Amino acid sequence: MTTRGSALNPSAAASTGTSTVDASTIVLGIETSCDETAAAVVMGGTDVLSSVVASQLDEHARFGGVVPEIASRAHVEILPQVVAESLERANIDVSRVDAVAATVGPGLVGALLVGVSAAKATALALNVPFVGVNHLEAHLYAALLDEPNARFPMLFVLVSGGHTLLVEMTSHDSYRVIGQTIDDAAGEAFDKVARFLGLSYPGGPAIDRAATRGRDTAVVLPRAMLNDGLDVSFSGLKTAVINYVRANPGVSSEDVAASFQRAVVDVLVHKTRRAARQINANTIALGGGVAANSLLRSEMTKAGEADGISVVLPSREMCTDNAAMIASAGWYRLRRGEVTALDAGANPNLKLGAGQR
Ligand code: KG4
Ligand code: ZN
Repeated sequence: MTTRGSALNPSAAASTGTSTVDASTIVLGIETSCDETAAAVVMGGTDVLSSVVASQLDEHARFGGVVPEIASRAHVEILPQVVAESLERANIDVSRVDAVAATVGPGLVGALLVGVSAAKATALALNVPFVGVNHLEAHLYAALLDEPNARFPMLFVLVSGGHTLLVEMTSHDSYRVIGQTIDDAAGEAFDKVARFLGLSYPGGPAIDRAATRGRDTAVVLPRAMLNDGLDVSFSGLKTAVINYVRANPGVSSEDVAASFQRAVVDVLVHKTRRAARQINANTIALGGGVAANSLLRSEMTKAGEADGISVVLPSREMCTDNAAMIASAGWYRLRRGEVTALDAGANPNLKLGAGQR
């Protein structure tokens, strides 16, 4: 492996924070927080030269959810190959890499440590900085890949398998959570309802597909806490679906899927509009796996048009976990001179806005 005396050598960047980070700076990103093993090469924060995602779906599907030990082992086995492929597809030698970024949290600790260790070792071998990235923050940068000049104040709506957050952002790295779920995350609700309906895993895409063949007015379902602050709740909705199907076993799963999806989207759009008004948002940015949902995308876009607020959606493949968003978030951190020490570990409970050094 050739190494390169970079302007961004770890100690210099860490101590001064003034090294040049610009449109030509290349970051190798690594993501292993859950069940996707991903690596990507991104130049200048937004130019995705490659993005490789190896999903472990098949390995977890028969358990109906992610098994942490299986995830860690699979990351160990496949990560070197995934990184090599990301460099190959980007058509660059590893010596061109200016920094290595990896997800340090939140996520499964064993899974996180695989990516963090690999990233730190690579950074050390290349004599370039290591940048620890918050997975939640990275989901935002997935939206900004196509819209880097989106204006603040921004309402970041993060809807994933583990989180449902409404976040006020007044600038890069200034986060204030103003709403969240008090029970299930949006993606978790999709997954649980899909599992109950006997649809495939993961549930979100399966419900999205089934809903296209169903009537969203077929089953009357609750919209919890609609006029009550900015928090959301999905656990009562999930229970209402289960109770309805038990009482009406002949109901079509397509109708249930469509009605459930409509209820989730109604709540998310309603709370988003309310939050956006409250913070005078210029932009609403969506992130996380549920942002791939067809109805949520179209209804959010419509709401933005009606309210005169620009809505920024990541491409569908950038909604779910990937490493391009990690490399991008890493570039923004690097530009602020934020380099992570090589003795830093992973934090499975990392919060948005918490320091990653
Ligand atoms: O962001 P992500 O890949 O992983 C986490 O960080 O959690 O999100 C995964 C979640 C899963 O719950 C999955 O069912 C959901 O995103 N999801 C969807 C869709 N695609 C993925 N939910 C609704 N509609 C979709 N099209
Ligand atoms: Zn995620």
